[in-house]
Amino acid sequence: MLARVYDTDKARGHGYATLYERHLGPLRNRPINLLEIGIGGYDSTTWGGASLRTWRDYFQRGQIHGLDIAEKRIDEPRIHVHRGDQSDQAYLRDLGRRHGPFDIVIDDGSHVNAHIQASFEALFIDYVRPSGFYIIEDMSTAYLDEYGGGPPGHRSTSVGLVQDLCDDVNRRHWAGWHGRSARPVHALHIYEKIAFVQRS
Ligand SMILES: C[S@@+](CC[C@H](N)C(=O)[O-])C[C@H]1O[C@@H](n2cnc3c(N)ncnc32)[C@H](O)[C@@H]1O
Repeated sequence: MLARVYDTDKARGHGYATLYERHLGPLRNRPINLLEIGIGGYDSTTWGGASLRTWRDYFQRGQIHGLDIAEKRIDEPRIHVHRGDQSDQAYLRDLGRRHGPFDIVIDDGSHVNAHIQASFEALFIDYVRPSGFYIIEDMSTAYLDEYGGGPPGHRSTSVGLVQDLCDDVNRRHWAGWHGRSARPVHALHIYEKIAFVQRS
C-alpha cells in the first residue's frame, strides 16, 4: 500500500491502511476531492505531508486538501495546503464553501474530543457529498483526560459522537414520520481507534 512508501503512520503504527483500502478502494479511479485535517510535522513548516502524498498518489485523479494549525510549505501537484484551527467552525465552513464539497474528509488533527465534534458538526452535513466518507482516526483519545476524554459513557467525545450517529442511522426511518430530523448517515463502520461514517 502507498502509505508505506511515504512513511505515514497510517500503515506503520496504526494499521489503518487495509481499512482505508477496503472502504476507499472503490473510489480510487474517480476524480475525488479529499480533505485531511492534520498534515503532520507539527510546528515544522517543512516536515509532514506524508499522508497527503499518499492520497495524491493513490487517487490519481484526485484533488487533495490538507488543513493544519501550523504553517506548512508543500508546493506539489494536486496538493492544496490550508492553515487553520479545526475547532474554528466558521473557518471550516468557509473552507467547505470555497473548496468543497468533499468526497472524503479525514480527521487526523489534534485528536482533542471537542475539536473532533466541532469539525464533524461544521463539515459533515453540508460539505460531504452524498455517499462520501467522514473518517475519524485515533478515537482512543476518547478515554484520555488530557484530550477532554473520560471513562466509557462520556458523551462529549469522539466515541459519544459515533454512538449518537448510530441513533441517527436507525432513527431516520421514524424521524421522517414524526417530523424530526436525523443526520444523514447511511452507514457506520467502527474498528479499533477508527470510524468510517458514510453520508446518505
Ligand atoms: C498526527 S499529525 C497528522 C499526521 C498526518 N495526517 C499523517 O498521517 O501523515 C497531527 C497534525 O495535526 C495538527 N493539529 C493539531 N491541532 C490542530 C488543530 N486544532 N487544527 C488543525 N490542525 C491541528 C498538528 O500540527 C499536526 O501536524
